[in-house]
Parts: sequence; structure tokens; C-alpha cells
Amino acid sequence: MTAKILRGRLLSFVSRPADRADTASYFYEEDGALLIAEGRIASCGTFQDIRGEAADDIEVIDHRPHLIMPGFIDPHIHFPQMQVVSSYAASLLEWLNTYTFVEEQRFAGREHAERFAGLFFDELLRHGTTTASAFCSVHPASADAFFETACQRKLMMIGGKVMMDRNAPGKLTDTPESSYEDTKKLISRWHGRGRSLVAITPRFAITSTPEQLEMAQTLAGEFPDLHIQTHLSENDAEIELTMKLYPEAKDYTDIYAHYGLLGRKTLLGHAIHLSDREMGAIAEAGSIAVHCPTSNLFLGSGLFDLKRIDAHNVRVAVATDIGGGTSYSMLRTLDEAYKIQQLQKNRLSPIESFWWATRGNAEALGLEKRIGTLAAGTDADLIVLDSGSTPTMAIRKETVGSLEEELFLLQTMGDDRSIREVYVAGRASHPDRR
Ligand code: GUN
Ligand code: ZN
Repeated sequence: MTAKILRGRLLSFVSRPADRADTASYFYEEDGALLIAEGRIASCGTFQDIRGEAADDIEVIDHRPHLIMPGFIDPHIHFPQMQVVSSYAASLLEWLNTYTFVEEQRFAGREHAERFAGLFFDELLRHGTTTASAFCSVHPASADAFFETACQRKLMMIGGKVMMDRNAPGKLTDTPESSYEDTKKLISRWHGRGRSLVAITPRFAITSTPEQLEMAQTLAGEFPDLHIQTHLSENDAEIELTMKLYPEAKDYTDIYAHYGLLGRKTLLGHAIHLSDREMGAIAEAGSIAVHCPTSNLFLGSGLFDLKRIDAHNVRVAVATDIGGGTSYSMLRTLDEAYKIQQLQKNRLSPIESFWWATRGNAEALGLEKRIGTLAAGTDADLIVLDSGSTPTMAIRKETVGSLEEELFLLQTMGDDRSIREVYVAGRASHPDRR
């Protein structure tokens, strides 16, 4: 790929903002530019400086007046749930049994999985998400389709076949042994191929026997650098059933701790209803509580208490959780996250929100040296954001007078229409403009 310059207003974070006035937490350049070469950001600075250091005949793509930011990162999403979104249920377990466990059975077929892999990455990119950590179905074929398509598109994607050997339909269960063997084969086929990363993925304690969690533990021991993704304490009835299935455990978190599944690369989806003891254990392990705001509201699961989680120094991430979640958009997700904090008298600043969806999630995944910022040397996964992308937004934008106000408008009213372009490893990749 030939080198090029992208010109626009640059925004990238260097640390988590302490508060809304923390201007040292980010880098903002009004007339900025990125020099892109070999799929990476070769340098980042003012347009004048970058233009000066590049060849005279280099292509310049001018994205002014729009914002150029690192692509969004979605650290908890379900690949086989594109047709589960918007399914009417009273709460989590009814939703899982009535719709989700029915739909996921269709991913046994390679053809079906391949079709949806294409649609899935189109939707992610349309919404400005360039990296995700995804649950595939129990079938290894679903993970093969996921990674094959991700590789073709040069995407950095984390994924895993779910391990689930009970409390689900027969066509959606594996065994402790087969889940171990299948995950191991996926690791050897896909982990580190292109930009793919395989995650060990026990769905949650309800759908895994103790024997299967032991197998997950064995995998984690054999492959300590892999991510582990699961669900934790999302819903009251789920917690009650979980504790019946694991009566020896101190609490829900203790189950995963017992099987050695809590580490710095463990992503705990939802993590809403936690005791102080559990928060302490998660913080000590360095595991990540992944907040899924649209899902938590849609399924009526509960309100994520960010202030309390922060007070316990638990690492946090924010994600869509499609198909429990209701939007692929990290902008819509940040809006709902803001409202959930509003209800708890906790004020989330837009500066912090945009850190969260980019560098924050990259740090949670341990990938901040590769993605999530505009730093030189990192992968050129980028988005171009238009804060006046709809008539409603354009009208409101007339009175916007600061970067903070602009970000707040984007998160409050923006969606896929706000994503003007998306670059994957330096290549323009918006599905509607290919
Ligand atoms: N817990 C176990 N599986 C799931 C799932 O697919 N979605 C959600 N939201 N919670 C879960
Ligand atoms: Zn989930």
C-alpha cells in the first residue's frame, strides 16, 4: 500500500481523564495530519509538519472539518446474535432460552456462519468499530468463519467458540473434552494469524460443568497470553441459579477464581451485582468488568455502579453486547452509559467516555501499544467522525463551542451516520463506500 496523508482534526488519548478539565489526558490538533504507511501510523502531528516530512507527490486525503480518531473498540459482542437483537423478553434467562439458544444453533452450518461473518464485520465497520472481542457459537465452524473473514479484511479481532456443556439444547452443547480439543485447534489455526487473537470462552458458569471449567483452566495454563471472556453477575435469577449449581463457592466471582480464570486478560461481561469482596477479588486479579449499557437497560439487568467499581480499582471497559445490546454503535453505547450514571448521581464526562471507547478499551484488552490511539508506530485503524451528520445534529452543532460539547453531541445524538470513513490497517474500508 502506498503511503498517504490523512488531514483533519485529530483526537487521541494518552491516559484516563481525571475529570472533564484534564486536558493533559488527550492530544488534540485542530489542523492535524497522520502519515500512513504499511498499514501503520508512521507519524502524527500538525499538517504543516507532516506535509514537510513526506514526499512531494504523496496523496493527501482531506477530512476537514471532521474529527479523526482511533477506531472504536467493542470488548464484548456476540457474533451469532445479529438476528437476536430486539427480541422481546422479560429478562436474561427467558431471552437466552427463547431466542438466543435457538438462533445460535443455526451457526453449526458453515455457509450460514460465513454469510453472517460478512454481515457482522460490515455492521461493525459501518458503526466505526475496528476491533471487537466476540463470542462465536459453540460450533468451531462459526469461529472459523469469523476469523477467516476477519483475516480477509485485515481486521484485528478477538474471538472464541463458546464452551457450554449443560443447560442448553443438545445441538448447542459440547463436552469438556471436545471444548478443550476444539479450542486448542482454533488456537493453532488462528491465534496470531493475520491480526487474529483467540480467546478462551466459557460462556458462563450456568452452561459449564465443573469439569468444563477445569478444561478452561487447563487451556489458560497452556496458553497464558490468551484472553478469557465470560459473563458474570448480570441478573438476579442468573446469580441464584449459578449459586445452586456451584454450592461450594463463596459467590459468583469465586467460581471463576476457583478455576484459575481470573487474570489480567479476563473480560467479565456485565459484572453488575457484585459484593465488596467480589470487587476486591476482581481488582486484585486485574480482571476487567465490561459494562454493557444498552443490554443492561434492554434486559432490565441492573445499573452498573461505576463509582463503586472505580473506588475498588477494578479495571473497566465498555461494550455493546449485541444481541442483548440494542446498537452496534459505541456512540449509542456511550450515551446509555452516561444515562445509567446520571440515574446514580455520577457524572460521566464526554472526555472520559471517548477515552473509554478507544484507549480505555485498548488498555483493558492489553492492546494499547497496537490500537486505540493515534501514536506513531500503532496500527492505522481509524475513524472519521462528523458531528453534524444529521439535520438535527447540524442544527444543534451551530451552538457548539468546545471540543467537549462536540463530543457530547456526538455521543448523545450520533450513530452510524456520524461515521464518515473508517480505515482498517490504513485502508479506507467503509462498507458503503467500497
Ligand atoms: N449470559 C450468558 N450468555 C449470554 C448472552 O449471550 N448474552 C448476555 N447478555 N448474557 C449472557
Ligand atoms: Zn454477552
